[in-house]
Amino acid sequence: MVDESGAAGGAAGRASLEILPGQVAGRLRFLELFGREAPVELEIGSGKGKFLLGQAEARREVDFLGLEWSLKYLRVAKERAEKRGLSNIRFFRADARHVVADLIGDAAVRRVHVYCPDPWPKKRHRKRRFFTPATTAELERILIPGGYLDLSTDVEEYFAVILQAVRDGTRLVEAVDPLFPDDPATGRTAYEIKYLKSGWRIFRATFRKREAADGPPQGRDSGGERGDQPMSTMISPASTRTG
Ligand SMILES: C[S@@+](CC[C@H](N)C(=O)[O-])C[C@H]1O[C@@H](n2cnc3c(N)ncnc32)[C@H](O)[C@@H]1O
Repeated sequence: MVDESGAAGGAAGRASLEILPGQVAGRLRFLELFGREAPVELEIGSGKGKFLLGQAEARREVDFLGLEWSLKYLRVAKERAEKRGLSNIRFFRADARHVVADLIGDAAVRRVHVYCPDPWPKKRHRKRRFFTPATTAELERILIPGGYLDLSTDVEEYFAVILQAVRDGTRLVEAVDPLFPDDPATGRTAYEIKYLKSGWRIFRATFRKREAADGPPQGRDSGGERGDQPMSTMISPASTRTG
């Protein structure tokens, strides 16, 4: 993923933090996009960037890509990243379903974060939801072995759909991500924080892509998997939002 001159940087030699559609020919090449070889983490629906900016600031050794459909939100996030002088973050205004299916190679990403994806509660809109067995299969494909899918939603009905989509579409195993253990008191993103303040629950799950060393699917190991614990967690207070 480079500009026409073949350079990863912009006109002034400084990399633009926004990937423009015209720059993308075939699959994204992270090495060229970020100008270095480093682990890559992806956030789907990065909004105004609260989570991704915090991560990029805290973990400079990792490169972060935010996929966001709203250009308005994306530009807010980009400006914030520029003000903070971050070089390990990029934003791409695109439909994440298309990017995940068509523009990211196999085993290219160490973590995928999807927090509070739009629930599309009306039946006639449900086909717009991000999580389906097909998209979860693509998430498994793009993760490196041992990589994590960290997700949340504020809608209990959608949470059940997501868990079923992961079961139907993948061989991902429920796990504990050592960097993102469930914390019942704290939201990670702007929406999680807002919903928790309103007294709504956040439903959270983490999955890990199997490695060859894991052995057959029914085998358990200690590599961050939950073992016999319940399959999913909810953080907290009172009421459940239904859409
Ligand atoms: C409810 S907001 C959550 C934002 C953020 N993840 C958070 O928790 O604060 C959902 C975000 O996903 C974006 N979005 C929805 N569908 C998308 C898609 N198909 N591709 C990329 N972004 C999408 C929306 O524009 C919106 O910013």
